[in-house]
Amino acid sequence: LKLKEKVDRAPKAELHIHIEGSLEPELIFSLAERNGITLPYSSVESLQAAYAFTSLQSFLDIYYAGASVLIHEEDFYDMTCAYVDQALDNGIIHSEIFFDPQTHTVRGVSMETMLAGIERGLAEGEKRGLSSRLILCFLRHLSEEDALRTFNQALPYFEQYAHRLIGIGLDSSELGHPPAKFARVFSQALGRKMRLVAHAGEEGPVSYIYEALDILRVERIDHGVRCLEDPQLVERLAQSRIALTVCPLSNLKLCVFDSLSDHNLKTLLEKGVAVTVNSDDPAYFGGHVNQNYRALIDALDLTEQQCYTLLRNSLEASFISDDKRQAMY
Ligand code: HPA
Ligand code: ZN
Repeated sequence: LKLKEKVDRAPKAELHIHIEGSLEPELIFSLAERNGITLPYSSVESLQAAYAFTSLQSFLDIYYAGASVLIHEEDFYDMTCAYVDQALDNGIIHSEIFFDPQTHTVRGVSMETMLAGIERGLAEGEKRGLSSRLILCFLRHLSEEDALRTFNQALPYFEQYAHRLIGIGLDSSELGHPPAKFARVFSQALGRKMRLVAHAGEEGPVSYIYEALDILRVERIDHGVRCLEDPQLVERLAQSRIALTVCPLSNLKLCVFDSLSDHNLKTLLEKGVAVTVNSDDPAYFGGHVNQNYRALIDALDLTEQQCYTLLRNSLEASFISDDKRQAMY
């Protein structure tokens, strides 16, 4: 069997996927129609033509427009079921999934509605062999007060959905919104023993990665590719085995690297950093996890050993218990 086919079939975990970023253009249009929403695009093709991003912000503008079709529990359920199908097709046995509640509450959609729909889809996924957890992400372009309000609103659901909803993260526009801005809400979550992650060092500077580690006390860094600018930080990440959830096709589409052959994933791996491969927003960036692996194998000439390290890292950096992890191997 060729390496790509072996990797396709290999069991793996996905640790960086925004559920709203799994919404395919066709589903955006059918949900818009079902909900009587008029999109600023006349067809699936004209929407897709807008997927020519130059930066994180240029993507986020369209990503939030796409998410605006999600109104009812059924919409969140349909989106989640479509992701579950794709995940199982990609050999994913465990997924830690981000959702952005503020994107929906601002439009009058309740926390109850979104979580009920996502949970119903994920519960069905469990029966089909996809283990999953949810991570609530705060939008960093909004205030910490807004994040704290959202956190308090979510607290009953952290109890009701304790088996699924296990932690918090930080996403959206990175530049100008350092992790330290969210120190209080992360400290409250830490006090409640929640799992903590944050996007840092995608477009933002190395100092944001240090803040995520030292102020927010995160257990993984989402993206983190700019760490390579600081050898001491690379050493610290390698020693501590704090994983980076790297998203190669996302980095390419958002112009974090000019070409995939310029991507630093292989260098990070060679320096002993616990790198993982993830899709980020698969409907927008041209592929799920296996397409990310396939593109990397071509662009960076990854060895079979390196692919196995990446696959193993994905399971080891996940938040499933060691007992459950053993059972999965
Ligand atoms: N970065 C920041 N915010 C996001 C991303 C990302 O890669 N994807 C969805 N929201
Ligand atoms: Zn992301």
